[in-house]
Amino acid sequence: MKGIILAGGKATRLRPLTSITSKQLLPVYDKPMIYYPIDTLIKAGIKDILIIIAPDYSGHFLNLLGDGKEFGAHFSYAVQKEPRGLADAFIIGKDFIGDDSVTMILGDNIFEKDFSQEISSFKSGAMVFAKKVSDPERFGVVEFDENMNAVSIEEKPQKPKSDYAVVGLYTYDNKVVEYAQNLAPSPRGEIEITDINGIYLKNGEIKVNIFDSLWEDAGTFDSLLHVSNVMAEKAKTKVEVK
Ligand code: TTP
Repeated sequence: MKGIILAGGKATRLRPLTSITSKQLLPVYDKPMIYYPIDTLIKAGIKDILIIIAPDYSGHFLNLLGDGKEFGAHFSYAVQKEPRGLADAFIIGKDFIGDDSVTMILGDNIFEKDFSQEISSFKSGAMVFAKKVSDPERFGVVEFDENMNAVSIEEKPQKPKSDYAVVGLYTYDNKVVEYAQNLAPSPRGEIEITDINGIYLKNGEIKVNIFDSLWEDAGTFDSLLHVSNVMAEKAKTKVEVK
């Protein structure tokens, strides 16, 4: 299983913070944001990791993270010239993925969950994770039937069919590369991961795991502050326990 961290993008919602460096290098309490997705992949047993970055500030990532040895992992880097969409990760990552399966995590998504069990038992198809949220219209939304089987996944629907958002950690078999290469851009001009999930869903090959622990998309001022405060609280509790 290969790992990809998608850490490019424009991060317009965090300007002017992101006028001096990349969003994924901004602090979440006491660590650069990207340490969290790195930790999530490593905890899940994935140590061969491609980090996809935007051209601006790419040197900042190399200076901070190097070849990954300090993390007990191996990092490679690729530059995405323009933010063409989340599914571009599998086109840029084609050679890196080779014949393997792949788990892609968004560079601004913060999880507490240990995904090792689910990822180590992954065999084929697609596996995504969904969490109940109060603002599903901002995300990919999964609709379930009465047996909790996924029946549809819609990207940022105006009228969400459920409160379950697909979060930014996705595991696919090797077919994802071909699926990504054949995608047409959506009306907003991006190649959408939701369209990839739609293909797996149509083929009856997607598993949606519901979870309920911390998940934060740290891409806005409020979410960045919130998750920083959560991490600060956790750090204090840890000290008190000692
Ligand atoms: P977004 O938060 O959707 O986009 P963004 O980071 O450009 O922010 P904004 O909406 O404020 O302009 O991206 C989610 C994650 O995916 C984030 O880590 C950036 C990354 N990303 C890429 O690396 N390439 C892409 O083409 C896109 C769309 C996102």
